[in-house]
Formats: sequence, C-alpha cells, structure tokens
Amino acid sequence: MMDGMKDKIKDLTALLNLHNYNYYVLSEPTVSDFDFDMLLEELQKLEKQFPQYALSNSPTTRVGGGISKNFKTVSHRYPMLSLSNSYSKEDIADFEKRAQKLVDGDIEFVCELKYDGCAIGLTYKDGMLDQALTRGDGSKGEEVTANVRTIRTIPLQLHGDYPKEFEIRGEIYFPLEKFAALNHQRKANNEPTFMNPRNTASGTLKLHDSAVVAQRGLDCYLYSLHGEGLPFKSHFEGLNAAGTWGFKVPQEEKQFVKRTNSIEGIMAFIDYWDLERHHLPFEIDGIVIKVNSYDKQQELGFTAKSPRWAIAYKFKAERIATKLLSITYQVGRTGAITPVANLSPVLLAGTTVKRASLHNADQIEKLDLRVGDWVYVEKGGEIIPKVIGVDMDQRSEDSIPTKYASNCPECDTVLHRNEGEAQHYCPNDIGCPPQIIGKMEHFISRKAMDIDGLGAETVAQLYEAGLISNVADIYELTKDQLLPLERMAEKSADNLIYGVAASKTIPFETVLFGIGIRYVGETVAKKIAQHFKTMDSLVLASYEELIEVDEIGDRIASSIIDFFHLEENRVLIDRLIEHGLQFKIDEEHLNGMTDKY
Ligand code: IVH
Repeated sequence: MMDGMKDKIKDLTALLNLHNYNYYVLSEPTVSDFDFDMLLEELQKLEKQFPQYALSNSPTTRVGGGISKNFKTVSHRYPMLSLSNSYSKEDIADFEKRAQKLVDGDIEFVCELKYDGCAIGLTYKDGMLDQALTRGDGSKGEEVTANVRTIRTIPLQLHGDYPKEFEIRGEIYFPLEKFAALNHQRKANNEPTFMNPRNTASGTLKLHDSAVVAQRGLDCYLYSLHGEGLPFKSHFEGLNAAGTWGFKVPQEEKQFVKRTNSIEGIMAFIDYWDLERHHLPFEIDGIVIKVNSYDKQQELGFTAKSPRWAIAYKFKAERIATKLLSITYQVGRTGAITPVANLSPVLLAGTTVKRASLHNADQIEKLDLRVGDWVYVEKGGEIIPKVIGVDMDQRSEDSIPTKYASNCPECDTVLHRNEGEAQHYCPNDIGCPPQIIGKMEHFISRKAMDIDGLGAETVAQLYEAGLISNVADIYELTKDQLLPLERMAEKSADNLIYGVAASKTIPFETVLFGIGIRYVGETVAKKIAQHFKTMDSLVLASYEELIEVDEIGDRIASSIIDFFHLEENRVLIDRLIEHGLQFKIDEEHLNGMTDKY
C-alpha cells in the first residue's frame, strides 16, 4: 500500500511536470485548467499525507511559500562575463570583419534578442534543477533557487536526452502584461508602483517570500549552455537540444533567433527588431550576435571581461520634443531637493512621459531651461526619462530665466547648498513632513529594520493620524490605536505589532543604518559598528576619532557629529535603547560575518 503511494506520487509528479511544460513552454495544453488543478490538488494531498515520498522536483514547490532570510553567496563554476556593447552599425560591421579575419573559413552567426531582465545560471544534476545563481559580481552570485523554482517555464525535471550535469544560462524577465497587472493592483491598494520591468524582475528574484515571487509571473529565456564534454558543435545546436529537454528557448519561427553568414543578414535582423520590438510581450534592449561554432568561439577567445565571439547591439535611446509646463521640487528623506520637469504628456518608447528628472540646479542652468520651452526628452536604459536639451528656435521672446527654489516647497525653510555639492537640501530635518515620513520609511525598509506588517503607506497613514512622528514612536504603538484606522483589520494590527517587536533583534549595524544619519549608508554603518562596537562610544567619538575609521572622511564625520549634537536625536536614541533595540555589536558581527540577510 505504502509503495503504491510512492509510485502514485512519482507518476503524478511526472504527469504534472509534463502538463506544465506543454502549457507554459509549448503553449499547447493537453488538459483543461480544471483537470490540471484537480491533479495538482491530489498530489498536494498525497504529499501532505506521505511527505517522505514527496519529490524535490514536484510541481507543488512552484507555489512557493518558504521564507528565506539569507541568500547564500556561491561561486560561479564558470565566470559570468558580460558582452561588449555597441550602439552603431559600424561597430557591428567591424566585429564581423575582425571575426572573419581571425578564423579560417566562413563564419555562421546566430542573432538573438537581448532580453532586458536579470541574468541567471541554472545548474541541473541528473535532470533536476539543483541551483539557481544570479550574476552577482560575475564570479560569485546569490543563490535564489527557491524563488526560481516558482517560474513556470523553468523545468524542475528535464526530459529527453540531457547531459548528467550542466549549467544553462538565461535571462529572467517580467512579461509586460504581468508587469502592468502588478502595477494596476498596487495602485488599487495605494501602494507605490514599480518603475520598470527590468528592475522589478531583479527585485522580485531577491524577495524573501517565494510565494510572492510565484504570484508575480516572471518568465525566462535561456541563451547558453556550459559544462564538460557537452556533445554539441555549435551554440544553435545546444540551444535547440535544450528546447527538447524542456527549456524555453527562442523560437526560429517567430524570428526570435536567426542564423546568417553575412553582415547583410545581421543588419536585416537589427532593422527588423528595431521596429518590431515595440510589439513584443517583453522588453529587449538590443540584439546579440554570436559566432555559432564552438570551435570558432574557442579560437576567438575572450578579453578580460567579454567574449570576442559575441557582441551586443544596443538600440539607441529614443527622444522626443515636448513642452516644459512647470518645474517642481521634491524633498527626499534626507532633505535633498530634486527638481522635476512637468511635461506636456508624450508617448515615448511605448509609455506616456509626463515627468522627467532634472537632477539639480546646475543642470537647469547648464541647459538654460525655462518654463514654456520645447525640450528634448530621452529615455535610455535609465528608469526616469531625462531632459537633454532645449529647442532654442522655439523659445518665446518673453520667456523668463529659471530661478531655482530658495525655500523648501513643503515647510518653507530656506534651502542650503554645501560648497562643492550639486544638491540643495532642506535643513529642517525634524520638522519637514516628507523628511519625517521618509526617515521612518527608510527605517522600516527591507534593508534596514525590515519590519513585517508595516509598509510605506501605513507609515504615512500613521503619521497623518498623528500616531507617529519619529522612529521611536513606532515602538509605542498599541493595537487600540491601530484598529480604528482605515484598512486596518485585526490581523494587520497584530502583524504590525508583532513585526515591530521582532525588529528588536536586528543587529546594531543595521539599526545604525536605519536611523538614517546623512551619508551613513550600509557599508559605512558596518564599518562604524565594527570600529566603535557600541552606540555609547559612537556618541562620544570626536571628529578625529571618527576620521580614523576606514572609509570615513570629513563629510561623514561632520554629519555624524552634527547628528548627535542635536538634543532631539540623543533623546530619540535613548528611547530606542529603552525599547530594547540592539545598540551593541554582537559576536557574529564582531567577527566580520556580516552576510546580508
Ligand atoms: S549571451 C558572455 N545572450 O546581456 C556573456 N546574453 O552583457 C554571454 N543577455 O547580463 C551572454 N540576452 O544576461 C547573451 N541572448 C542573449 C542575451 C544576453 C540578454 C544579457 C545577459 C548579460 C548581458 C550581457
């Protein structure tokens, strides 16, 4: 009976994996969604009853649910290099000529899309997904296997004639439709929306809760194989074989990949996709051209950073002219002022642009930007479009030179600008609302205190309700205060209180980062914690003692001194100490084991 169950679980696992492949990779489902769900439910039940028989490649693992606090850093077996980039067709022609000169015989090239996402290396052992590593610094990456398992087009179990052990690399990306749906939902929940699919894909891969990753609908195209003694002679042959094992590889019939022997063939591919890319269901930022034969690739070899047998052609940033309606100023959590150009809405590279960043006062002066001007806006690889120039021919005679803001738009305090710095800032850090809220948002954020159950929206809500106005207040919130708030159910209130209490174990260096002293980022906070070991000795440290610390110069030392000089800040720290936060370095962090969680 028990053995029967073992077989049943095994068969169901294999059947569901096959259905998954037919549905997600081939887009040719052979069962109805209902039947699939029924089978999955049956498997889930059996696995619960007989956990000893559950297989690691089970499709039930795709729904996620495990919480990983730590992403292990793991060395890449083969370094993850990058491609040399070019923006001109001349560069591509040079690449082709050079390659032809360096190797004997006619070269066949493979042209592919340059998917705009996050690189991933997947290791398979005996046909099963064993490990997924991000690119990291190219020699070491972060192990994100639990999250990658939730991506439906990445097979957990291969079929066909696959090698015993190998690595396959590709790009994880956010399909545009899924990205739009996510932002739509976030808007409805009053949560901040995400800027672009690429950053959101890599951010999603590093979420701690794989169940959330599972819901987001990431996808992946694979583009290279690595291993010892792989039985292929060319890149294209390898890719196609990977397709037969269950991977999503570019389809020739959709022109996602093309082989060609000529520069004309390469250029035709570039021209086709330069236009057609706007109709793809995902973003690409260029195309990649690779020498097909593995022998020829080896002959061409590598430079220190990239292969000589491949090159990326990046599409040019698109630009358009539109009218500058007004310049407004945003205040960040540290009081830094960012000027923003409000534009007459225009469609640029598929999205409507209404705003662009102007960086700082110098930038406005350099461009001699004036309200009413026709300006050129460009969208490159960056998230926020940039204003890159003014069409002087269209400037009206009565236009007035821009006078940069002298007072804070939020609290009217006179703005400061330190010598040698580009940015203006509002010095009223304890009375300026966006700074107060921004500081608290920073404090609770994932990289800092990582308070579960408390998000940026709730912080703003609590501030507006008069319940919190600094980070110490967060530790004094009670359930009775929370319950009357809008959208605050009993469970959310409990979660918030619990999350706040749990944050008291967060290590000193992270608390130090979370407090938000100007210029004290993650790395500096670590160095300070290692050096001074306790908050008490940091508070007492003199300027001279501070600049002795590695990586701390005048700017940071002065900022720390200024921070503790303020009575309000000292009171704040005392209150946090009373609430039991960590203000002493613990053993683990003292020994330099400062792995990020
Ligand atoms: S091949 C030696 N093929 O572009 C590097 N990369 O700088 C071999 N990318 O982050 C990479 N689409 O993740 C290759 N079809 C494609 C690609 C591709 C996107 C990414 C890759 C890396 C960057 C290369």
